[in-house]
Amino acid sequence: MKIAVLPGDGIGPETTRVALDVLHAAAAAHGFAVEVSEHPFGGNAIDSHGDPFPAETRAALPGADAVLKGAVGGPQWDVGAIRPEQGLLALRAELAAFANVRPIRLWSSKLESPLRPELVEGLDVIIIRELTGGLYFGPKELTDETGMDTCRYSAEEVERVCRYAFELARTRSGRVCSVDKQNVLSSSKLWRQVVTERVAPDYPDVEVSHQLVDSMAMKLIEQPTAYDVIVTENMFGDILSDLAASVSGGIGLAPSSSLGATRPGLYEAIHGSAPDIAGRGIANPTAMVLTVAMMLRDLGERAAGDAVEAAAVHCLEHGPTTPDLGGSASTDEVGAAIAARVRDPEVTA
Ligand code: NAD
Ligand code: IPM
Ligand code: MN
Repeated sequence: MKIAVLPGDGIGPETTRVALDVLHAAAAAHGFAVEVSEHPFGGNAIDSHGDPFPAETRAALPGADAVLKGAVGGPQWDVGAIRPEQGLLALRAELAAFANVRPIRLWSSKLESPLRPELVEGLDVIIIRELTGGLYFGPKELTDETGMDTCRYSAEEVERVCRYAFELARTRSGRVCSVDKQNVLSSSKLWRQVVTERVAPDYPDVEVSHQLVDSMAMKLIEQPTAYDVIVTENMFGDILSDLAASVSGGIGLAPSSSLGATRPGLYEAIHGSAPDIAGRGIANPTAMVLTVAMMLRDLGERAAGDAVEAAAVHCLEHGPTTPDLGGSASTDEVGAAIAARVRDPEVTA
């Protein structure tokens, strides 16, 4: 398999390096070949190329089976005319990666949620976040007097991401909760109408519910295990998934894939470049490792993906862990322990 790697900024390169070590360990243990190429992207690419998504990076994507990306951004690029995050939006658009799959799971009972243990026991939710429409991509304006972003969705954009969610629900418990703000927003009125009239009738076996986004934030705190597949628009999904990741034990644990109709898919953790801890070697690499597990499964290496996930979970259960989880290990120590277990599932950490 050919993987285009965009290491990114801040803890991006630190966690991506671990993810690649684990990927290579999985390739060796499961007998498949992996070809990795690295490309500038994000803030570092602004510095080197004056562009967060340089032409040479863009040109490398069609030949790849998957794109593995570290987080981008940082305070040094917050003030410039062009930002790393613009590159990220352009990348998602370039790949037409409209379905952002964000599994939120209590990966280990040892993890400490800010919620009481009984509220999160068995937590296993997948948030499907629409990724190429809405406020992020609608018409914008910024003057000294006015700032404007437009949340615009077409019925087709809503339909394709919701169909993805309904198909996924069929492989799970058969429940979809669609989140909107249809009491106020036109884009949300359309969203709910499309779910109700165009999508749900084709899935009589899937139980659909609707929830307004403000009360959904509340429900995810009060009763997070009540949900299975959640589907929502871009901005709501961004916010709810950080909240849900925290509920599951921390942002350093949450992986994601961003998929369109064709390959390559984009694989990235949901956390950012964590400028507050970057360069200290203490970032939690688990989210990026679990992201590799998702990537391997999508590329047909199911056993390898399962082994990577199992090794990461074993490490959460038995250590070592990074300081965000109460441990004292470095990013690389956690990575080495996971890679060792991928090579030999019997090895004790
Ligand atoms: P963040 O996710 O980077 O950090 C929030 C908090 O979580 C910080 O305290 C950080 O130390 C901690 N954290 C995050 N990931 C961690 C990990 N793996 N291990 C341990 N702790 C971790 O969010 P932010 O501070 O709001 O954003 C920082 C920058 O990252 C911004 O420039 C933002 O635009 C960017 N960002 C990029 C992506 C991406 O590239 N996919 C995603 C989110 C944010
Ligand atoms: C994420 C991030 C990005 C987003 C930013 C960095 C553009 O927060 O991947 O969740 O808002 O989509
Ligand atoms: Mn986010």
